[in-house]
Amino acid sequence: MSAVMKADARSIAKLIADQKPGYSLDQRFYTDPDIYALELERIVYRNWILAGHVSQLPKPGDFKLLNVAGESAIIVRGSDGELKAFANVCRHRGSLVCLTSQGHADKFSCPYHGWSYDIDGKLFAARNMPDDFDMAAHSLKPVSVDVLHGLILICFTDDPLSLEGAKRDLAEPMAMFDLENLKVAAQKSYEIPANWKLSIENYQECYHCATAHPEYARMHTLMLDRAKRERVQDNMLARMASCGVKDIYFDYIDTAARPGEMGYGYSRTALFDKYKTGSKDGGPVAPLLGKFTDYDGGASDFSLGAFSFLLAYSDHVVAYVFTPVDQNNSNCEIYWLVRGDAVAGKDYDVDALTWLWDITTQADKEIIVNNSRGVHSKYYQPGPFSGMERAERIYIEWILQELQRP
Ligand code: FES
Ligand SMILES: [Fe+2]
Repeated sequence: MSAVMKADARSIAKLIADQKPGYSLDQRFYTDPDIYALELERIVYRNWILAGHVSQLPKPGDFKLLNVAGESAIIVRGSDGELKAFANVCRHRGSLVCLTSQGHADKFSCPYHGWSYDIDGKLFAARNMPDDFDMAAHSLKPVSVDVLHGLILICFTDDPLSLEGAKRDLAEPMAMFDLENLKVAAQKSYEIPANWKLSIENYQECYHCATAHPEYARMHTLMLDRAKRERVQDNMLARMASCGVKDIYFDYIDTAARPGEMGYGYSRTALFDKYKTGSKDGGPVAPLLGKFTDYDGGASDFSLGAFSFLLAYSDHVVAYVFTPVDQNNSNCEIYWLVRGDAVAGKDYDVDALTWLWDITTQADKEIIVNNSRGVHSKYYQPGPFSGMERAERIYIEWILQELQRP
């Protein structure tokens, strides 16, 4: 029996117990369908996932879909003006009901046999059903939805983690950027043929940035050594107050989340001195956000649970959402947000706005796919993390902890 096959015989509990601290994950975490099924149940469907911004659904009937692994949710502004979310699964024989990723609808009609639901999810038309058929008992099933300062969050359980801490503590930093009143200037999906963990692990570390992202490395200071980084950081801290920005820091990411609550974090890091924002030449790409009166030369990281991250420059916000499609495929959805009253072509240029994170994400996609190919090799063996992969290490330790949860 080969070493790989012997390893395959171990139980998941034993595999987790055998995982060497400070090393990348065993191959089976990327290849074993039983582990993937467990991840869906314990991690993916249990956590909040960013599904867009309220500005994308201004009127009753405006909708968009969020597809995660095998699930699909229709998020719609209901007739009462409130956001609602429903499982995109027909109550007749289970077809997907809505096949359009976003738009406006007066009703949702199932493409299979035509059952029709109103924008509040209630079934109102079903042909040739018996007289005693109870229409009211066949509404679309609700999916958990909430709004965090304008950001739409979806969770595929009826008993989601509380957002209380995130709403309370992120109120101030989010107000600084006026997140509630931003608008989506661009949105793009990157399909990554690799396990979802490889996609997020890559996002969690900047050990690869110096080699893989020359454009990013020109402006972001994450890969500097500590002394140099502190110097640039001090320069930014000195500028912040006069730019209308407050120095705030939270670190309740999932590993440190309070029991029953979604984890979250916030911090601001300096860009290299000549960069005002994440743009090609460091110059502004959109009007200043919220309370900003000038560029402090920083970029803030928000983390919202396990799948959603924001990078907030002084004049735009980039939101990243990583989700599994299936065991071997993941999706990175990126939203570029600008001030709600900014006008395309006049106040910002979409190509200039999206330049940095589009090329960086294309490069990441290639890296992740190469990583995935190697991880599937019979020669793959977990390797040691560097000091610059601390966040990734914490993230995979959190995954292992969640997989063992009762
Ligand atoms: S499955 Fe939807 S109408 Fe039949
Ligand atoms: Fe990267």
